[in-house]
Amino acid sequence: DLPNTITLNNITYNTDSLTNIPATLPSYLTRNLHLQPSHPLSTTRQTIESLFSSALYETYNTLSPIVTVAQNFDCLGFPADHPGRSRSDTYYVNQHTVLRTHTSAHQAEKFRLLDTVGKPGYLITADVYRRDAIDRSHYPVFHQMEGARVFSRGADADIASTVMAEVRGMTVPEVEVVESCPVYEDGNPVQSAKGHTAAEAEAVARHLQRQLELVVSRVFGEAAGSASAKEKLKVRWVSAYFPFTSPSYELEVFWNNEWLEVLGCGVVRQDLLDYAGHSDKIGWAFGLGLERIAMLMYGIPDIRLFWSRDERFARQFADGVVRRYEPFSRYPHCYKDVAFWVPGTFHENDFMELVRGVGGDLVEDVKLIDEFTHPKTGRKSMCYRINYCSLDRTLTNEEVDSLQEKVRAALPEKLHVELR
Ligand code: PHE
Repeated sequence: DLPNTITLNNITYNTDSLTNIPATLPSYLTRNLHLQPSHPLSTTRQTIESLFSSALYETYNTLSPIVTVAQNFDCLGFPADHPGRSRSDTYYVNQHTVLRTHTSAHQAEKFRLLDTVGKPGYLITADVYRRDAIDRSHYPVFHQMEGARVFSRGADADIASTVMAEVRGMTVPEVEVVESCPVYEDGNPVQSAKGHTAAEAEAVARHLQRQLELVVSRVFGEAAGSASAKEKLKVRWVSAYFPFTSPSYELEVFWNNEWLEVLGCGVVRQDLLDYAGHSDKIGWAFGLGLERIAMLMYGIPDIRLFWSRDERFARQFADGVVRRYEPFSRYPHCYKDVAFWVPGTFHENDFMELVRGVGGDLVEDVKLIDEFTHPKTGRKSMCYRINYCSLDRTLTNEEVDSLQEKVRAALPEKLHVELR
């Protein structure tokens, strides 16, 4: 029942047993929300871009989302059994080709181009694709910005002091770092990267942290407005793991009384730079999610709104000024439960995608509300609650009933579960 080919952005690909692109997805590939004038995602991108000197950072905003498995995973050092590679997490066009799951898919090619372009850094903003849960902050398509910067060893080879001198010249960010993991743990097998001395990695990491503290202080300063501009933003550095950076960190921001993770980053593993022809350089990279930041800057409560074609959404931001989103109206929620026995293997993301395939943006969220294993038969039962709610109109009972009926009908057929 699977067609032999699939056409995405006017290019036709052969399909195979890994293909899992739902019919609803190709239309997202042409939206380019991050480039639409005055769209909140575009304004957020420009706000962040303006904090990086264009003399040092080349910007790339139109890279194709269709990449090879090598670009997205292999070249970055993802192990063969990394869960991110699975069909339940990633959209496969075929066994060699995926929709990028992160902007890091372009790291290797853009590092290779550094000398040609003549700048030591770059920024990439793009749509990325991940199979995921359904709720107000998750959508199968979102946007990331990736940044990277390298430093040349030069003749004196004392790269650490050169970088530290540059750090001292940077604007001091208006943040309070309340907690920080060690910048460089010497001797820790995970944290110490081949090819860097501790002093080098530490200098590069400090440069990275300063630059990113500047980004969050500006962006969250916008979000807070002038009222609380006096109070310094609290941030903390948490040690993290990515296959392509070492040491690696996450930056968390204290916002509305909770710690929010806003980005991942680290010192680029030297083998990556070596392969790209830069054994003489050392550098950092970061990746951040634009939706999460834009939702805070604008007070946008639901990630689906970014995709809305409703004039009442676009009109509010037409002048490109960052301001609080004014909800144009609220429409009623309608909850429907569905329970079923699952076969041996069941991936929740497959269920999420089935629901999305039927309900599209009319589904606000889906929650697992009950799960149990029958004591005698050992069979497992799941019960999910689907929350139907449109962003721009009231749904009729008949409409919701018919959507729910379609979900029920598709379940045994597509996921081989038994309805209860
Ligand atoms: N690509 C990583 C992610 O999507 C983020 C990242 C980018 C981490 C660059 C380190 C360096 O989670």
